[in-house]
Amino acid sequence: MGDEHSVIIIEEPERRAELRKLVATAQLTILDEAGYGSEAADLAREHHPDVAILSLEEPVARPLRTLEALTLLLPKLPIVVVSSLGDREHLRKAMQAGARDFLAKPLRAADLQAAVKGLLETDGRRRVALEAGGKSLAQGEVITVYSVKGGIGKTTVAVNLAAALARQTKQRVGVLDLDLQLGDTAVLLNFLPEYTVFDAASNAGRLDPELLQSYMRHDQSGIYVLPAPMRPEEGEEIGAEQVKQVLDLMVKSFDYVVVDTPPQISDPVAAARDASTLVLLVTTQEVLALRRTKVALQMLRTWGYSEDKVKLVLNHAYSMNGASGKDIEAGLDYKIYWQIPNDTAVVAALKVGLPFVTAYPNAKATKAVVDLARAIGGAGNRSQPGLVNRLLRR
Ligand SMILES: Nc1ncnc2c1ncn2[C@@H]1O[C@H](COP(=O)(O)OP(=O)(O)OP(=O)(O)O)[C@@H](O)[C@H]1O
Ligand SMILES: [Mg+2]
Repeated sequence: MGDEHSVIIIEEPERRAELRKLVATAQLTILDEAGYGSEAADLAREHHPDVAILSLEEPVARPLRTLEALTLLLPKLPIVVVSSLGDREHLRKAMQAGARDFLAKPLRAADLQAAVKGLLETDGRRRVALEAGGKSLAQGEVITVYSVKGGIGKTTVAVNLAAALARQTKQRVGVLDLDLQLGDTAVLLNFLPEYTVFDAASNAGRLDPELLQSYMRHDQSGIYVLPAPMRPEEGEEIGAEQVKQVLDLMVKSFDYVVVDTPPQISDPVAAARDASTLVLLVTTQEVLALRRTKVALQMLRTWGYSEDKVKLVLNHAYSMNGASGKDIEAGLDYKIYWQIPNDTAVVAALKVGLPFVTAYPNAKATKAVVDLARAIGGAGNRSQPGLVNRLLRR
């Protein structure tokens, strides 16, 4: 066989002869042939081809659905579309559904051969690059920072916890800004996003770790950030399913993914919450915040979240006055897991565009958040497991 590549072809039975001939002339080994629908994924799973070649002709609905399903079920399988519909619109639809390449007919066998070869070489290089980067295929953990009231310190906690986790555990930490309308992690870190979660979500079907990382900002604090969309309209277009896909991929290349959320409940946030090992529910000691926090705790309980998964973080965002820790625990009937003091370093850090844990290593708030990171992540090794590891072992 030499370096002949193996493929499966996906085409209506009555038109298969033509495609079969083209593929054979391109010196590709046909492992099997499938029609549209679930058969294609079944056969691909069974035969492990290098590439799938899918024919796209009118009516396009069914082949496109097949393409989409294949991309979802077998995200690592590169799919080349061949089609006599060479216009932009079909090209765009095919790429959105997950095609890695689109070849317009009339097509020479040599072009098909070159396309498949090129694809596999790129994939090989990516694999090597990823392995060299020390990334494991192990799943990272999602930590969602949550509240049902705005301005309570979610973004502050999310970004600083992420930076502290990166420093404490020496592991890879990503931040996903799901405040899709008004997210401000980029503001806090003082950068102008080149790409955002909108780019990742729009390409969710064909995202791989390398492409995803190219959308993320590598901040000087050591974390990788996928910032919120630049325009609120873009945020509205992002659905829960896309967020789930983005997160699924993020946990493949990050040990921790910290998710910042908006003050309102949205489907994308629910998707992140469901994927979380840990939910940090942030509150302040103000009456209004506490009342809403109580409702949030009840909701989370009704949705089946256990108390070890949902941890209450009391952030003294405005002042040290207000209900005491004990009163709060009694009123909410919930234990406070962590407290973060009010600290001028928090606002001062905003001015320098760095997380306060990076800019002010000796601040009180820094100590609190670094200790929180240690409690959650341990020392990044097995002998000192943190909360996340203990939760996972159950
Ligand atoms: N522990 C703290 N000490 C002092 N200031 C704080 C503290 N925590 C947060 N702040 C300040 O409170 C303000 C609100 O914080 P932040 O933006 O993190 O809240 P948020 O919950 O993300 O808000 P939104 O719901 O609008 O996204 C910010 O100006 C922040 O600097
Ligand atoms: Mg915020």
